[in-house]
Amino acid sequence: MNQYIAAVDQGTTSSRCIVFDHDGRIVSVAQTEHEQIFPRSGWVEHDPETLWTNTREVAALALAKADLPVGSIVAIGITNQRETAVVWDRSTGKPVYNAIVWQDTRTDRLIGELAGSEGVDRYRKTTGLPLSTYFSGPKVRWILDNVEGARAKAEAGQLAFGTVDSWIVWNLTGGIGNGTQEPGVHVTDVTNASRTMLMNLETLQWDPQICADFGIPMSMLPQIRSSSEVYGYSRERGPLAGVPVAGILGDQQAATFGQACLSPGEAKNTYGTGNFLLLNTGTTPVRSEHGLLTTVCYRIGDAPAVYALEGSVAVTGSLVQWLRDNLGIIRTAAEIEDLAATVPDNGGAYFVPAFSGLFAPRWRPDARGVIAGLTRFVNKGHLARAALEATAYQTREVIEAMRADSGVELHTLKVDGGMVANRTLMQFQADILGVPVVRPVVAETTALGAAYAAGLAVGFWEGEDDLRRNWAMGHTWEPALDEAERERLYGEWNKAVERTYDWT
Ligand code: G3P
Repeated sequence: MNQYIAAVDQGTTSSRCIVFDHDGRIVSVAQTEHEQIFPRSGWVEHDPETLWTNTREVAALALAKADLPVGSIVAIGITNQRETAVVWDRSTGKPVYNAIVWQDTRTDRLIGELAGSEGVDRYRKTTGLPLSTYFSGPKVRWILDNVEGARAKAEAGQLAFGTVDSWIVWNLTGGIGNGTQEPGVHVTDVTNASRTMLMNLETLQWDPQICADFGIPMSMLPQIRSSSEVYGYSRERGPLAGVPVAGILGDQQAATFGQACLSPGEAKNTYGTGNFLLLNTGTTPVRSEHGLLTTVCYRIGDAPAVYALEGSVAVTGSLVQWLRDNLGIIRTAAEIEDLAATVPDNGGAYFVPAFSGLFAPRWRPDARGVIAGLTRFVNKGHLARAALEATAYQTREVIEAMRADSGVELHTLKVDGGMVANRTLMQFQADILGVPVVRPVVAETTALGAAYAAGLAVGFWEGEDDLRRNWAMGHTWEPALDEAERERLYGEWNKAVERTYDWT
């Protein structure tokens, strides 16, 4: 009987399940979007129960489409939107509040208080991260401070916190919610834990002092495990019944793994809701001096953890959604390419989508979005183009920071994620970087990375060489813009970015 791995990718806008074969090829896919809840300006929430029920549904659907016999799925891998925080009651399995999403900025005052006179780098040495609304710890503190009764229950050990991986695994392996009346395993992996701001990067354990400073009882926290080992067994019915849950990776780390960036100096850039560029730096964490994050890239079983430098850009693909949903100038996200193609260039307009402040490499929570360079000449085609170009300029900023931190010169950029279907953007990305941009045949690298982590744990793949062999070149975009023009455009972009500062 042929064997397969099922990977669940619970992302910011949708939940997916992809079944992979031994060559890393896609056998079947199912996907469903969920509601983005915006209760106030700057707040972004998801309903955790919907995230779980959608995950179950897409898993069942992907398996039904593949029509596989019971016993053919040998492991389940989980990958997830990172930093998004869920707090639930251990005895009822019910969340005490909606999931607070990574993009949410409600904790900005708290961040200021925690930074105090030491500044936003107060915990950088321990965690690799600057104090920012982005990470989970401040979101948990907000729930404990603002949901009636939550703090008392948390102090009595009744509440559990988890990033979305923990929430899914807890439900998948137990599931008070699915009628089995048993709590699941309460775990997370090192990559997700490294995004909470509560984990020590070297010991890979929760840091008691930071938890105390944040006012978060340690009894709420999941156990930190490697990214590839058997955590528990699925309690779902059908082809997933009893299947080991054997891989967990935050989605950007999963994409790095799926792109086979397994040696120091290898990097990938994922174009999703936001953009996330990760550079594998090997088994020693490299501290950033230029606004990047130091984060765990993966840990396979008992092997030493591998670290990465990361440039996280909050708003790229979600700007296209914003043009669709908030302005209505396109009907589908794919239409942006046609609209952008109605003009030869940006007409002098620059769109800086600082909707959640600016993340890497500037870390400006006070920034808010601007469209600069407007004249009577600019039309919606130019705005569409400026929106696409924003993704490419933000990527260049991150790559420059990465070069300054690591000395690594990228000769090509490996890309993946939904926006790589946009050829105009990919060509402009190559133009503004001056290096070729390369997409692999299987661009679903996030789910593939989670599948790899799970498959390695159960011996479906033997080692990293199997993963390297599966990587195959899909398409390459060569740079075609002359140097002077490239620098002129980038200079104007930088001027536009400075207009976003000091808004809040
Ligand atoms: O850090 C946030 C990131 O994990 C979200 O990724 O693909 O769900 O937008 P995505």
